[in-house]
Amino acid sequence: MSFENIFNHKHQIKESANARVNLIGEHTDYTGGYVMPTLLGFKNTIKLSKNNEKEFVVYSEHFKEKKIFNDFIKSKDNEWADYIKGCLFVFFEEYKKIKLEYFNIYISSNIPLERGISSSSALCVSTLKALKSYFNAQISEKHLAVLAKKVEYDYIGVSGGIMDQMISSIGIYGKAFFLDCKNLKFELINFPANWKFCLIDSKVQRNLRSSSYNERFAELKIAEKDLNVEHLGSVKVSDFLISKFSNTVVASRAKHVIFENDRVLQAKESILNNKILKFGKLMNESHESYSNDFEASTSDVDEIVKNSIKCGAVGARLTGGGFGGFTVSLIKKDQFLDWYKKIIQLYSPDKIFEV
Ligand code: GLA
Repeated sequence: MSFENIFNHKHQIKESANARVNLIGEHTDYTGGYVMPTLLGFKNTIKLSKNNEKEFVVYSEHFKEKKIFNDFIKSKDNEWADYIKGCLFVFFEEYKKIKLEYFNIYISSNIPLERGISSSSALCVSTLKALKSYFNAQISEKHLAVLAKKVEYDYIGVSGGIMDQMISSIGIYGKAFFLDCKNLKFELINFPANWKFCLIDSKVQRNLRSSSYNERFAELKIAEKDLNVEHLGSVKVSDFLISKFSNTVVASRAKHVIFENDRVLQAKESILNNKILKFGKLMNESHESYSNDFEASTSDVDEIVKNSIKCGAVGARLTGGGFGGFTVSLIKKDQFLDWYKKIIQLYSPDKIFEV
């Protein structure tokens, strides 16, 4: 079913936003630290036109479902359409001078859902981009990311940082996106051409994901209180060694974040100096810390990471919020075929995605 089939006319606006894979820097965004994701080819596309019946009609190609509403009240059971409602709500709240209009909206996406590659942020960023285009509104890419975060954090009510929205709004395909989440300053960095990243899908433990993410979020907020700092991102590795925490669990979570921030800075230096083996080593250390100190991995994921390295990757780690989803591996291009031939002996080709 296309936009034309559903609405019987052509769309006026078409906007897209891409998913991302985080290369290094996990749970460091909402603690005022550093992250380094890169865009993926997967994207969410929004087609939009004016609706003259004073209602919003939204169709999702993925769910093959149409929702009709004329208010911005969130549903009780977190429907997919709430993300669109949230974008409309945040947009019209922010730009009160813009007169409310109603729309037909068509969502299509090839982003695998619930795998830690930010499908929801791509949905929000592309929807806000479509509204921006329709009204020809002056909104910077950075502010659009801030609004997209408002949708997820304030309207939908999920904990999270700003990494996904920032890269989805501002990132450039093929470049690493180094972001300082404290002040939203970013750098787009070229990755040496003779290397590539590859994703391997693991089993997803859906229910565990959001509750465990929130648990880690809360533990890190306790760590910030313990140290009397606004952000763990301002704590140096040397300070960690002399810090006291409420308990050993909080100390381990904080350790991951504090050392991870340092790893992101080293990772950035290593790309700039073309030291890609060092980058791979940092990815491996990041995974070890994510798995042992942060306890955000699963045995299936640890196995994939180990196997990918055995097959020839120089670095591999779990990417995203944790508890399943995609792993990302770094492989030298001239060794890619060899790695691929070996890895498909262990995992089916439909679980493997080249970046
Ligand atoms: C999710 C969140 C991000 C970030 C990562 C973990 O993807 O949306 O803001 O916190 O988890 O690094």
